[in-house]
Amino acid sequence: MQSNYSYQGAVEISERVGWRIEDIIGGEKRLDFSRAFLPESLAQVQQLGFLAPEEKRLLNQIRGHEYLAMFGLVEEFILPYVVDHARPKLSGDDYRARALLHFAGEEAKHIHLFKIFRREFEAGFGSQCEFIGPAEDVKKFVLSHSPLGVAIAILHIEWMTLRHYIEGVRDNRDLDLQFKSLLKHHWLEESQHTKIDTLIVEELAASASAKELDQAFQDYAEIGGFIDNGIKQQTEFDVKAFVSATGRRLGKSERREMAETVLKGMRWTYLGTGMTHPNFLATVEQIKPGARTQIEAMAPAFC
Ligand SMILES: [Fe+2]
Ligand SMILES: [Fe+2]
Repeated sequence: MQSNYSYQGAVEISERVGWRIEDIIGGEKRLDFSRAFLPESLAQVQQLGFLAPEEKRLLNQIRGHEYLAMFGLVEEFILPYVVDHARPKLSGDDYRARALLHFAGEEAKHIHLFKIFRREFEAGFGSQCEFIGPAEDVKKFVLSHSPLGVAIAILHIEWMTLRHYIEGVRDNRDLDLQFKSLLKHHWLEESQHTKIDTLIVEELAASASAKELDQAFQDYAEIGGFIDNGIKQQTEFDVKAFVSATGRRLGKSERREMAETVLKGMRWTYLGTGMTHPNFLATVEQIKPGARTQIEAMAPAFC
């Protein structure tokens, strides 16, 4: 069954919930480095029994930095994708044009917001955290795929963002208040993006041939594989950042255990939470019967 989302509904909510970066960070609003940044459901650091509580918090914050950088990275390709999608059909449906331009404008604001948080993080954390990239190469790779394939990947990202907030952050009292506020405000606007992107996927799928649909799901899998390769590389950067932040010398097996745990946490954060989201799966099944089972079969490796 098709979704009952509408561009008009998305525009109305978007204009009601819109916020300014200045309301979230800057001035008195600072990151509190005595607290965790990510919920344990995403950070998954507690299982590392050889770490002291202070070290677990530092690793959690390193994962928080990686979260900021990862969203900065994916939103760098979402923005041009939405602008390109909007451009050919700006007249006709006024709500559609406005919804797509809100979507694009909000992603540009999110990119800016994540950058400011990263700068705050770097100024307060005390040691360096590396991140994969450059964003330009990622953008080029992702946008070289079919528009429907990219729209499905973006839909995955939008739903996973909502899940991060609802399942791990909303009722969490342990997190740094600024980081929590960032995730809440992101969720507020991403909630409209899930609806708009569902409409984009449905529209593109309606005019796609069976071959084009197959290609789109192949593209989605390729983009997922590309993200997973980046995640593997980022795991090494996170472990390295931990060593330089704590000065701790990890034994061989400790290092391996930490790398495996970080990899598992990242895979769940950026792949598993999207691939298994019920609304994401409902949309893919609606546009291509059997797609749900296919994605569900791939999911355990990321959960
Ligand atoms: Fe966003
Ligand atoms: Fe978004």
